[in-house]
Amino acid sequence: MTQSTGASRIGVTGLAVMGANLARNIARRGVPIAVHNRTAARTKEFIEAHGDEGAFTAAESLEDFVAALETPRRIIVMVKAGPPVDGVISELTPLLDDGDIIIDAGNSHFRDTKRRTEECATHGLRFMGIGVSGGEEGALLGPSIMPGGDTHAYAEVEEILTSIAAVVDGTPCCVHVGPDGAGHYVKMVHNGIEYADIQLIAEAYDLLTHVAGLSAPAIATIFEEWNSGDLESFLIEITAKVLAKTDERSGGPLVDVILDQAGQKGTGTWTAIDALNLGVPLTGITEAVFARGLSSLRDERSAASTALAGPTPAGQADASFVDDIRQALYASKVVAYAQGFAQMRAASIAEGWDLDLGAMATIWRGGCIIRAQFLNRIRDAYVEHPDLDNLLMVPYFTEAVANAQDAWRRVVATATAQGVPIPAFASSLAYYDGYRRERGPANLIQGLRDYFGAHTYKRIDTAGSFHTRWGQDGTEVRTDI
Ligand SMILES: NC(=O)c1ccc[n+]([C@@H]2O[C@H](COP(=O)([O-])OP(=O)(O)OC[C@H]3O[C@@H](n4cnc5c(N)ncnc54)[C@H](OP(=O)(O)O)[C@@H]3O)[C@@H](O)[C@H]2O)c1
Repeated sequence: MTQSTGASRIGVTGLAVMGANLARNIARRGVPIAVHNRTAARTKEFIEAHGDEGAFTAAESLEDFVAALETPRRIIVMVKAGPPVDGVISELTPLLDDGDIIIDAGNSHFRDTKRRTEECATHGLRFMGIGVSGGEEGALLGPSIMPGGDTHAYAEVEEILTSIAAVVDGTPCCVHVGPDGAGHYVKMVHNGIEYADIQLIAEAYDLLTHVAGLSAPAIATIFEEWNSGDLESFLIEITAKVLAKTDERSGGPLVDVILDQAGQKGTGTWTAIDALNLGVPLTGITEAVFARGLSSLRDERSAASTALAGPTPAGQADASFVDDIRQALYASKVVAYAQGFAQMRAASIAEGWDLDLGAMATIWRGGCIIRAQFLNRIRDAYVEHPDLDNLLMVPYFTEAVANAQDAWRRVVATATAQGVPIPAFASSLAYYDGYRRERGPANLIQGLRDYFGAHTYKRIDTAGSFHTRWGQDGTEVRTDI
């Protein structure tokens, strides 16, 4: 089967949808490439379907695959995330030489990437973990690429990666993110933000359906209009398309016959777990993960729908409420991104990655699922203030949310009064209100913790840690001296 075309500059092993399309994208740039898949039949099918698109060397065995590559070898592994990646690395390791580069381009957990980087280094191999976003079409036509790993290894693949990435305003959506797990971390948060973005859109759709009483085609038109303003983005664009689609079987909107049970592959959960570990408030993304969990309790929801009391949504609203929803969606989205970027900043400090958050916004402007106009504003914010704590503090976003907040509050109040669940809208507003409070209610939390667990508290009027002898004489003692 092997048709040798001479030394290949790079190789891809794993030719399911993502690997196949990445390989085709690379080959179409005129780069000679070796391809391999565990099940050789898939490699054969790939060559039959796409062999004329570039200079492919198809290898049936990993030995042939490795032999087809120029040195230092550059090998993209695009297999199912998890143990299969370790399996492929173990099989490749004895076949490779010092300085060769293994590039895991799947959705691996950043801690696995850190571990694999160290393990490969013990064999003299260089390991890179790169995030690739854009799904099937992005991989073929230009994804957003988030490469993590050693800078010298990146230099060996930079030309190829930047040549296959999406391009916005002449800038490729690919930049070296940082060492070891940094690329996969940023991809994970990208996916988390995608969860929040999608949840917010779903809540807007729910409000337009049940509070405003609009049909799917009518809502499609609204999303189409919204796509020409501040909300302009790939997800808003495809929301209009999905809502406008007619079902061939029923003749009604397709969305009306799709089961209301959301799937997930885990990157949103990873993002939320890491935020909890870092102590970063990440309400938008986390609520989005919980909402998918609630959606999957279909039988329980069905039973509860007749057992649990609550108001029935009005099903009619005027045009001003529709615009309120647009503003609430925008403000909530600003919060979700502010939280996601704050998490990347916290991780960057914790891991010593020195992430350039403006560059992350830049490479998300094209190719990936959350690509949006709005990312230009985020890039500008970090270019001007590289050490920004929170995007909400940049004048552009401070004003945008200030302008939207009355509408946002009306939407949250109306939805709550009418019994329509809006966890991402409401928690984003709660975060906003919590973030802008100089003094919150945590003083009482500290008092309670001191009462039941002698956890001590600090005072606003003097330095030191204190404990009150609640169950004894009620006197206060200083505990740090
Ligand atoms: N699908 C997307 O939109 C998307 C977007 C971004 C990132 N990703 C990530 O990209 C990676 C690839 O995704 P995908 O959807 O193209 O494929 P996938 O369904 O996740 O994985 C299938 C591929 O993995 C190979 N594989 C599975 N177990 C293996 C093992 N133990 N040893 C060697 N190979 C093994 C399969 O080989 P066989 O043919 O032999 O079974 C096949 O090539 C994943 O990490 C995924 O999360 C996917």
